[in-house]
This record gives sequence, structure tokens and C-alpha cells, in this order.
Amino acid sequence: MEKYFRHLHDQFGENLTGHGSGIAPMSHTKLWAIGGGKGGVGKSLVTANTSIGLALMGYKVVAIDLDLGGANLHTTLGMPIPDKTLSDYVTKKVNNIEELIIPTKIKNLSIISAAQDELGMANLKHTHKNKILTSLREINADYVLIDLGAGTSYNTLDFFISADKGVLVVLPEPTSIENTYRFIKSVYYRRLKLIEDLLDIQPLLHQAMNAKMTNTQATPTDLVKKVYELNPDMGAKLQSEISKFQPKLIINQARSQSDIDIGFSMKSICKKYFGIDMDYIGYLDYDASVWQSVKKRRPLLMEFPNSRLVGNFDKIIHRLLEFS
Ligand SMILES: Nc1ncnc2c1ncn2[C@@H]1O[C@H](COP(=O)(O)OP(=O)(O)OP(=O)(O)O)[C@@H](O)[C@H]1O
Ligand SMILES: [Mg+2]
Repeated sequence: MEKYFRHLHDQFGENLTGHGSGIAPMSHTKLWAIGGGKGGVGKSLVTANTSIGLALMGYKVVAIDLDLGGANLHTTLGMPIPDKTLSDYVTKKVNNIEELIIPTKIKNLSIISAAQDELGMANLKHTHKNKILTSLREINADYVLIDLGAGTSYNTLDFFISADKGVLVVLPEPTSIENTYRFIKSVYYRRLKLIEDLLDIQPLLHQAMNAKMTNTQATPTDLVKKVYELNPDMGAKLQSEISKFQPKLIINQARSQSDIDIGFSMKSICKKYFGIDMDYIGYLDYDASVWQSVKKRRPLLMEFPNSRLVGNFDKIIHRLLEFS
């Protein structure tokens, strides 16, 4: 299977850092967060296998489970329940996040596991969130991939917003699609709310946030127009903030061309409604090898190197690196 990733390695080889390439390490660790409102859509599958793909290409990768309270990334990677988890860091039993890093059997790939106790993402204190975010950037790795878990708690949204890339996994079914729009909407307004320069337009933001997506007169795109009319400087600032928000979309469990096409429709709806450029970076076929690998507690890419998903992941990782 390594050969599938070899051409990527060759293509991006000049960017590889650290691993005997003789090139100085990157000045900063890239954080990629994997989320998507709903549970069970494939976030851990994407986190685990993207991490493996990157590691096989020679990048130094740490995959971290931030699905606090429902951690299962270690299972997806075929690892036993770890002794030390993020909970030990939050409770100060461990002072340095690097102490939580556990190497996997795959070269270049390590994990940090989330708590197995009742510590939930929604209950994580503001100071803890900031501490974790700062320390993740200090980890000695090329990429830190964050499995965010389900939900739209402020903490989940903030990790998604703070990451260098935010990846959304969606199933081609109405509930998952609706949840994804809800997630995007929550992230969109959370981002704008956190910007002090935009304080003056908070009432307008609030109004647009509460408008139904079916109300075509009160979309976020209309909000930008309104703000421009009221205050062109503020309008420009708002537009520039919005253009920085470029989530990446993956359709998982695709069974037909129309499932695959849902990604394109979602992209154009997001452009029309929110004015954002979402990158549709690819789809993953529905494939029985996924649950077989879960059952065997072995990583899919390692256990089923001939699965169609290997090719799917290859394309997705390629796109993610292109958009770096
Ligand atoms: N492409 C696929 N083909 C077949 N089955 C799949 C596929 N993707 C996911 N599944 C099934 O869906 C299950 C859930 O996937 P996964 O655990 O990655 O989701 P999750 O979003 O991390 O869930 P949670 O929100 O509970 O953490 C897998 O155990 C597998 O059985
Ligand atoms: Mg999961």
C-alpha cells in the first residue's frame, strides 16, 4: 500500500521535514481538525487514515482524540486504551503534553488519547481549551490531526476555528447534511463574534444568525451587503474575515454518483447562502472493509491495502496538501 502514497511522497518530497531528509524542521506545526456536527459519520476513520497516509509519506504526525468522553481513535488505529490521556494533562498530573504522546506501530505516527472519564468537550474550561491549543502547536510534528468528536459545543467550534484546516465529514443523507449546515452556521457566527472590530455589528449578526435558511431575504450574504452600505470599512473587514473561512468537505459512504454530487451542491449552497468558499476535497466509497477493520481493531489502510478507500484517501490527502 505504501506505493500508493509513494508518488505523493515524491511530489511533495521537497517539503518533507526532519526524517533524515537533512532539511530543517518547519517553523510551526500544522493543526488539522476533523469535525462535522453528527455522530458516527466517519470522523475517526478520516482522522486515523489521513494520519496514516501522511505518516507513510514521511511526515511526522500526531493524531489526537478530542472526542472527550467518547474517545475511540485509539481503537480505529488498533491501539489498546492508553495509560495516560489528555485528562491527566487537564488535571495537571502530567505537565507537558509531549508526555502523553504514544508511538504507534506505524513509523512517524503517534497518538494522544482523550479521557476515558466523564470529562466532556462541553465541560472543558476556557483556560484548559487555550492551554491545550497552545501546547498542540508546540508539539514536535509536521501535522497534528484532531478528531473533534460530534456536537457543536463552543469548545468544539473553537478548536475547529483555531485549526489551520477544518475538515467536515458528511454522509449523503438529509440528517447529516442538515447537521453539517448547522455546524458551518455555528462556526461562521462564532468566528465573527470573536472579532472585536466587528462588535458594532453584533445586533445585525444576531439577526442574520437567527434567520431561517429558507428566508432568502436575510442570508449572511445580505448581511455583508447591509454592512457595506452602513459602513464600507466594516463591510470590507467582514468580507475579509468571511473569505478566510474555507472548510474542507468530505462525503463519506458514497454509494452512487448522486451521493458524490451532493458535495458539489453543498459547496454551491454554501457560496450562495454564506458567501464562503468550501473546498470539496473528495469522497469515500461505502465499503465493507471499514467495519471489518473496525471489528478486527486494525487500521483500514494497513489491513485492506487493496480497498477502494486507499485510492479515495490518496486523492483526499493530495487535495489537503495542495490547499496547505
Ligand atoms: N466509508 C465507509 N464504509 C462503510 N462503513 C463506514 C464507512 N465510514 C464509516 N463507516 C461505519 O461507520 C462507523 C462510524 O465511523 P467513525 O467511528 O469513524 O465515525 P465518527 O464520526 O468518528 O463517530 P463518533 O461521532 O461516534 O465518534 C464505522 O465504525 C463503520 O462501521
Ligand atoms: Mg469518532
